[in-house]
Amino acid sequence: MTPPKPASRADKVSLWTYLRLFRRDILSAQPARLYSAWLAEFRTPFFRSFVANDPALVRRVLSERPDDFPKSDLVGEGLRPLLGESVFLTNGEVWKRQRRIIDPAFEGGRLKESFPAMLAAGRAAAERLEEGAQEVEEAMSHAAADVIFRTLFSIPIKDQTARAVFTEFRTHQRAQPILNLGAFLRLPRWFPRLHRRASRRSAARIRALIAGLTQARADEIARGTAPDDLATKIMTTADPVTGQRLATAEMVDQVAIFFLAGHETSASALSWALYLLAMDPAAQDRAAAEAALLPAVPAFSDLSQLRFTRDVFRETLRLYPPVPMMVRQNSKPEEMRGRQLAPGAQIVLSPWHLHRHDRIWPAPDDFDPDRWSREENRACARDAYLPFSAGPRVCPGAGFAMVEGPLLLALILRAWRFERIPGRDPVPVAHLTVRARDGIWLRLTRR
Ligand code: HEM
Repeated sequence: MTPPKPASRADKVSLWTYLRLFRRDILSAQPARLYSAWLAEFRTPFFRSFVANDPALVRRVLSERPDDFPKSDLVGEGLRPLLGESVFLTNGEVWKRQRRIIDPAFEGGRLKESFPAMLAAGRAAAERLEEGAQEVEEAMSHAAADVIFRTLFSIPIKDQTARAVFTEFRTHQRAQPILNLGAFLRLPRWFPRLHRRASRRSAARIRALIAGLTQARADEIARGTAPDDLATKIMTTADPVTGQRLATAEMVDQVAIFFLAGHETSASALSWALYLLAMDPAAQDRAAAEAALLPAVPAFSDLSQLRFTRDVFRETLRLYPPVPMMVRQNSKPEEMRGRQLAPGAQIVLSPWHLHRHDRIWPAPDDFDPDRWSREENRACARDAYLPFSAGPRVCPGAGFAMVEGPLLLALILRAWRFERIPGRDPVPVAHLTVRARDGIWLRLTRR
């Protein structure tokens, strides 16, 4: 059985239909030809954008000349009230300095130190699940938020402030439903933006809560009583070039993005993985058998036993990449496959289309975790697999997520069996991340 894929739109539609579809969901707003095109152009009275699927172009933009393709300034429009000057939105020297301070916190050795906190969150998540029909996206959001709070600030989601951030965040998402139209399209000023005021208010409340956590941590660092977690690491690391540390206020912006980028994405991937395993019971049995071999309290080194579970997670990130599209703009005139791009064109890199490109992947829409152990998959994985982006702007949490995902899946699968509920298969839509339109409903039974 092929897992769900959104219907594409007709090749030619009016601008208004396009905008209406876009507002509903950026995936079904795209024509089917994007699954076989190398470069597709969209022209409207307001903007000109290009979807680049040619691996050589993707490499040029993300890895070879990233400084010539900064993040589109439109991406920030909807996100800035929440994220301020966070590393996700900045460009140039400011961004480089922030990455020099943040990256060491996610290096391999540090991941091992975050492992006990991830394990505690995973075990708590498996205990919270209940027998019977359940919406798993909600449960996985809860689990991934718990992982972030425990690894960043050494507090579980049960903590009052952590819970308040999580709840406010959900309100924010409802008020700010898509990555924001303006993030992908150069819309005229008069075009109505969605729920601007409500989302600004919820963003301010989230930031106030995070500011409280960050200030308290700065005080603990000053007193020498701070726990050795990611927040302490980031707040005490000096930029090797300038010697400066992040100011406490700047840290609020970074915590906001860690929370957003780190929990929404992982929650999306975990939920789709559970759905795919429910759809493929033989694969679920294999993953559960691997999980059953883990010791009751696994150690970091036990993760290497989860080979198949890791491939399930990889395959999930291919079929349902949590960040479905990324936008850059060229700062200089550019030639791409014989077309001339004036400076300022929007260049869309779409993991969603690249991962299902029918001229690159064999059986692109099939769920086939074993493809990851086949030799012929190597070239596809190298050229057309970008769940964490690539180049210097690659996701700093990629290694973290590749530990968290298989670990949580294993802890959950060793306790629970998942089944599809006929007639309730999820329909993917892209909001801030790729989610299911009405949630992902599965039937759970205890093993
Ligand atoms: C399955 C989980 C995850 C996926 C699929 C994912 C994917 C991505 C992608 C595609 C980008 C690049 C976006 C762009 O350039 O427009 C990104 C950036 C980022 N991610 Fe992740 N991410 C995941 C988990 C995490 C975690 C766990 C953290 C932190 C704890 C994190 C922190 C960040 C940050 C800070 C950025 C901005 C980096 C920059 O612009 O320099 N992510 N992520």
